[in-house]
Amino acid sequence: SAQLPARCHGRRSAREGRDSGPEAWAAKVLRRRRGAVRARTTHARPARSPRSPGTSAPGLARAPAPRPHRRSRQLRVRGVPAAASPPASSSGCPAAPGRPHRPPLTGLGPLEKASALAPGRTSPRVGPPAGPGLRVIQEGTESSDGGDSCRLFYPEDPIKIVRGQGQYLYDEQGAEYLDCVNNVAHVGHCHPLVVQAAHEQNQVLNTNSRYLHDNIVDYAQRLSETLPEKLCVFYFLNSGSEANDLALRLARQYTGHWDVVVLDHAYHGHLSSLIDISPYKFRDLDGQKEWVHVAPLPDTYRGLYREDHPNPAGAYASEVERVVNSVQEKGRKIAAFFAESLPSVGGQIIPPAGFFQEVAEHIHRAGGVFVADEIQVGFGRVGQHFWAFQLQGEDFVPDIVTMGKSIGNGHPVACVATTQAVARAFEATGVEYFNTFGGSPVSCAVGLAVLDVLEKEQLQAHAASVGSFLMELLRQQKAKHPIIGDVRGTGLFIGVDLIKDEATRTPATDEANYVVSRMKENYILLSTDGPGRNVLKFKPPMCFSVDNARHVVAKMDAILTNMEEKVRSCETLRLQP
Ligand SMILES: Cc1ncc(COP(=O)(O)O)c(C=O)c1O
Repeated sequence: SAQLPARCHGRRSAREGRDSGPEAWAAKVLRRRRGAVRARTTHARPARSPRSPGTSAPGLARAPAPRPHRRSRQLRVRGVPAAASPPASSSGCPAAPGRPHRPPLTGLGPLEKASALAPGRTSPRVGPPAGPGLRVIQEGTESSDGGDSCRLFYPEDPIKIVRGQGQYLYDEQGAEYLDCVNNVAHVGHCHPLVVQAAHEQNQVLNTNSRYLHDNIVDYAQRLSETLPEKLCVFYFLNSGSEANDLALRLARQYTGHWDVVVLDHAYHGHLSSLIDISPYKFRDLDGQKEWVHVAPLPDTYRGLYREDHPNPAGAYASEVERVVNSVQEKGRKIAAFFAESLPSVGGQIIPPAGFFQEVAEHIHRAGGVFVADEIQVGFGRVGQHFWAFQLQGEDFVPDIVTMGKSIGNGHPVACVATTQAVARAFEATGVEYFNTFGGSPVSCAVGLAVLDVLEKEQLQAHAASVGSFLMELLRQQKAKHPIIGDVRGTGLFIGVDLIKDEATRTPATDEANYVVSRMKENYILLSTDGPGRNVLKFKPPMCFSVDNARHVVAKMDAILTNMEEKVRSCETLRLQP
């Protein structure tokens, strides 16, 4: 069929008074600056170290090393292709030890300092300076004249980032921020090898996948080497949303069914089809479609079945079975179960091992397929394994895996991996799959470079060791600060669940926002997730170091200690919308 771009058989190888006067003017400036932030692109510096040996003069445009031509559509890829050798050197992760962070501006309160950092501002946008009655505006509460559906981080004082390198981001004043949340810059912001691979391929050819090209075949081969053997058909796309939308089409075509079961609080993308299967979104919109069915989030800290349950995996899987049964009783048929392998928007949740296997049995019995969304959590982030679904056990293999974000280190690449049976059913429609940009030579060169860097810098093992070190430090913090209810995670995917009190485990939402805001004053970028927006999430670029972990936890400790002192002395941590 002409539908598959590549196929791999066989060995898989302030809103503060912004009404009038200076504040109104400042708000206008802010809106203009926002526009500038959105419109601006950061240009990465090209670096040396091409992916392939044999390049002549540095900087010379060159074609990839010639290889025997292969038929990409019906191609059988066997063995390891003559892939370009990884380069001899170059790391995108600048050494962190002793790295000086920009010293805080002395003599100013945090909010005054923020003001001083923002050029063009004549008066502080947010209320009085820090101290008793500290005021922090909650993320997302600021809006402009209405209709502003795009949110900035830190709306009370947005940052204009102009450069990124490794795990660091730099603002227009040169201040260095430690990035603890950007899992898209997987192998490090602007990694020189990834930038170089894109640049070199861009100089030679970038077209669509209707021509034969080695990159797409090599890339499918390399991805297949990371996956269970039966996942050997690859579709290339441009975004995680596109990948999940295609997964939905594949599932429906293969099963002949329509309905979908999802986990509560899930987010699977911004397309209409995916908003429909994202409780995180549809609850605020039109609500739940009749073909969408929601099962409880397997959250063993705050969910239905907790850490004291003898078999939480079985108990949560029975909930899915219950949903499946009730769907069938209504005469409806299930096409797919969609789940993030580790639900991130749901609050950095680690489903109990064995849950997916049991769910897959219930879903398969109902004639549906299991879709593992690895868009946030794949590519070695979890440390022990390359794919997060592998945490569930060796014997678990999803029918469809979707990839995005980290796959291209910031370049728009995405992929759907599935079985031949599913792909054949899709082919049988006779309707071709075509994607203008998906699987282009440049996208595939970028994807290959990301895999090369992961391998060369052993970032999966790095994530495992730095992640356990960070978890250990955070657990020590939990023992010290009662506000920390739970520390959970694996590799560099970690959540710190802040609570009001241990008995109720009520989310400490305002406190979490306060911590995020204070961390930013300390040049550390952190964020919250979970339905209560109280889970501090760590999912940094994979080159995040042990020193970074120590630095972040020391600052968090100081902030939490200071917060506790304020609470003891009855000072307000006022958070106002
Ligand atoms: C789990 C998950 N799936 C899918 C998507 C959609 O990806 P994209 O924004 O690249 O379309 C996201 C984006 O945040 C996500 O977190």
